[in-house]
Amino acid sequence: MNCCVVGLQWGDEGKGKVVDILAEKSDLVVRYGGGANAGHTVIIGDERFALHLMPSGAVRPGTVCVIANGVVVDPEVLLEEINGLAERGISLDGRLLISENAHVVLDYHKLEDRLREEALGKHKIGTTARGIGPCYADKVGRSYAVRMADFRNLAALREKLDDIVAYKNKLFGALYDAAPINAADIFEKCSRWSDALSDSIVNTTEYLYSALDVKKNILFEGAQGALLDLDHGTFPYVTSSNASALGLGPGCGVSGKWVDTFLGVVKAYTTRVGAGPFPTEQDNEIGQWIRDRGHEYGTTTGRPRRCGWFDAVAVGFTTRLGGINQIAMMHLDTLAGLEELKICRAYRVDGKETTFFPGDAERLSRAECVYETVAGWTEDLSTIEHYADLPDGVKNYVATVERLVGAPITMLGVGPKRTQIIYRD
Ligand code: IMP
Repeated sequence: MNCCVVGLQWGDEGKGKVVDILAEKSDLVVRYGGGANAGHTVIIGDERFALHLMPSGAVRPGTVCVIANGVVVDPEVLLEEINGLAERGISLDGRLLISENAHVVLDYHKLEDRLREEALGKHKIGTTARGIGPCYADKVGRSYAVRMADFRNLAALREKLDDIVAYKNKLFGALYDAAPINAADIFEKCSRWSDALSDSIVNTTEYLYSALDVKKNILFEGAQGALLDLDHGTFPYVTSSNASALGLGPGCGVSGKWVDTFLGVVKAYTTRVGAGPFPTEQDNEIGQWIRDRGHEYGTTTGRPRRCGWFDAVAVGFTTRLGGINQIAMMHLDTLAGLEELKICRAYRVDGKETTFFPGDAERLSRAECVYETVAGWTEDLSTIEHYADLPDGVKNYVATVERLVGAPITMLGVGPKRTQIIYRD
């Protein structure tokens, strides 16, 4: 069985935990988009450890980890993660494959990300400053791009870097009055990374096809959330890749035809980091209450996350967009204690009610929410193991969301641990 797990909101839905659980029954876990802007915490023994690039399956010793062509790879971060896992007794030897076609995030991408955001001032996107946008821009621009395959021919890479760095220095000098960067320094890092990673660089599409042929169980791990999708999200306040399930095909060369389950992950409420419209945002004591109870601070940047009610218009849209046939709802335990809960069932824009998510950030920023209000619950959910034992308030909340978004909720998260998940057939 093959499964693709994607976030249906603005990221941070708890995909890492879901992937970690599903990875137990998977032979391969595949990352197919985004880069070190992603972040999830894995718990190894008593220790918490943040992964940004490595597929979450990395902590399961028998699982093959694939970083496919759609990912932008920051080798510095990747090697830190490989070494961090090794120090905790988890070896990636022989089970990490990186696509030769994946693009490489270099220092000048991170520099450009920062310089551009600073220059944008109040119009900034609020990126993670990990160089994601500039690296994908170089990929689309083609002429000044570095791919993992370039690590195989260092002499050619040296020449290429001279050209790229000369171009970047002209650009950054003119636009931002930035000090020049040095091609030799970047090349020196690349040759170190080449030594460390060359054995893992392969044609991952070919590898995935052979795995499909012998009916391996493959878990495809989406990054960020569908509302941050470059084409279908709240542009320009999005990331630079197709973070919805639609990114699967271009991101790793495998058609959705081979995927049995598209599992969408949501939080029982909504969060967002960075700028951009957020119709159900509660910039008030309710938002703060959710932030405190849900520990809503970014794994990658530590920024406080913006918090608000569940938005069934947005999730209904991303459910259809991704062909989602099952949903995992996380953080239900966080909401215990609120007398009533609101779920946005429609927007009112320019005096008209709509249940379709506007594709335009400006229009979305003018949307007023039409809420359905349901009773909350006070019971602690963290030790409940069976759906039947959940309070009626939770069951009603889940049923209301299912009705509004149009897909069944089959997994319910009631705490941060692997075991704190309730399955519903
Ligand atoms: P970038 O991906 O660093 O360019 O950031 C673009 C937008 O996506 C910003 O609003 C980020 O906060 C957001 N973003 C990127 N990655 C994640 C993630 O993993 N979780 C939540 N938001 C993210």
